[in-house]
Amino acid sequence: MHTIDINEELQDMCFRYICDAGLEGRITQHIGRAENIIPELDDMFDLVFIDADKVNYCRYYDQVFDKVRVGGFILADNVLYDGEVVLPHEQQSKNAKAMHAYNEKLRNDPKIEHVLLPVRDGIMIARKTKE
Ligand SMILES: C[S@@+](CC[C@H](N)C(=O)[O-])C[C@H]1O[C@@H](n2cnc3c(N)ncnc32)[C@H](O)[C@@H]1O
Repeated sequence: MHTIDINEELQDMCFRYICDAGLEGRITQHIGRAENIIPELDDMFDLVFIDADKVNYCRYYDQVFDKVRVGGFILADNVLYDGEVVLPHEQQSKNAKAMHAYNEKLRNDPKIEHVLLPVRDGIMIARKTKE
């Protein structure tokens, strides 16, 4: 498993939890911008969880897509953005517009099937069905 976060202050705290779980040999923590780190990951993934800066969700989706196995999942948090995604475009914040764009992108992607779970701030579950 790989984790990516830009905030180096989180590294030690997260590592303590990883050690408490006895998983320090199985999890690699990367500190830096996800858009720079994802292209360097030479691995295939069964599941990717996107929960970072909202304006880059579409980019992260495109960057990870070829690294996810057919049958694997791409999950994304905050896709409802506190309900803002259903407001008229001109009333949406920058982040809500980005989440709306992400939802539309997945709705139009013929290589996945997807479902939006309306729990908390909305989790989009996409399952890759084609290369
Ligand atoms: C809402 S928090 C979620 C963190 C974690 N998934 C959790 O549930 O605790 C969003 C995280 O995205 C990180 N982040 C923001 N921009 C980033 C970027 N360009 N690359 C990597 N991480 C980023 C922030 O540092 C922050 O920790």
